[in-house]
Amino acid sequence: MQSAWSRVRKPKRLTSADVRIVEDYAQLSAIAAGLVAAVFRQKPAAVVGLPTGRTPLGVYKRLAALRREGLDVSKLTVVCLDEYLGVSPDAPISLFGWLRRAALEPMRIADGHVLRLPSYESEPQLACVVFDRRLDRTGGLDLVVLGLGWNGHVAFNEPGSPPTARTRIVALQPGTIERNARYWRGRGGIPAHGLTVGLRDILRAKRILMLVSGSEKARSLRAMLRGPITPVVPASLLRRGNLTVVADRHAAALL
Ligand code: PGA
Repeated sequence: MQSAWSRVRKPKRLTSADVRIVEDYAQLSAIAAGLVAAVFRQKPAAVVGLPTGRTPLGVYKRLAALRREGLDVSKLTVVCLDEYLGVSPDAPISLFGWLRRAALEPMRIADGHVLRLPSYESEPQLACVVFDRRLDRTGGLDLVVLGLGWNGHVAFNEPGSPPTARTRIVALQPGTIERNARYWRGRGGIPAHGLTVGLRDILRAKRILMLVSGSEKARSLRAMLRGPITPVVPASLLRRGNLTVVADRHAAALL
């Protein structure tokens, strides 16, 4: 644990973050998987928030390989970070379905160990409150892994999201809908609303691990790390947490 995360500093200033710039996506995935596995080894019953999106796919492949080599993931609790509103877990566009295929099944994490967002309940806003109670009962996130949104969003916390927000229904920005629709070409439209774990719980995670890959993220990463800390760029608020960033050199080009 100590060795993998040893460069992580305790935040002394509001803007302190441990930023690791690596050559390419393969290195990013390997380093991030090592950091995540170190948390699992230190705390086998860790509560971990896992993202959807393309960025973490390499990490999930490596974690699945580490599990086959003996990494114990049987006691983890996985927290889903975002989902589309009104979408059943078995729908083709379900983000839970994405996480199940990309991470949970390869890592053999059973559904009973997953806190799934209540996207398909009759009263989803009320169900979000129940979700937060369940999250509270776990003791909160030990680790949250994140990708960086095109507009600085974190999970589905779009620009303007306050740092105090908890799990809730959010309106997705047109750019988010457009980009996400590319992943699901020919499989129906993307809902205009989603559910997201709020920044409050993400900021309180004992460790925040942000993964950023590719030149199309370079401007967002600069705004996240070098711009003002503001809800206009939700990812900038993470600088108030115990943040580690792993970025490839394409994403880090504007730092
Ligand atoms: P990506 O998504 O990993 O597919 O780039 C990140 C995000 O939009 O949060």
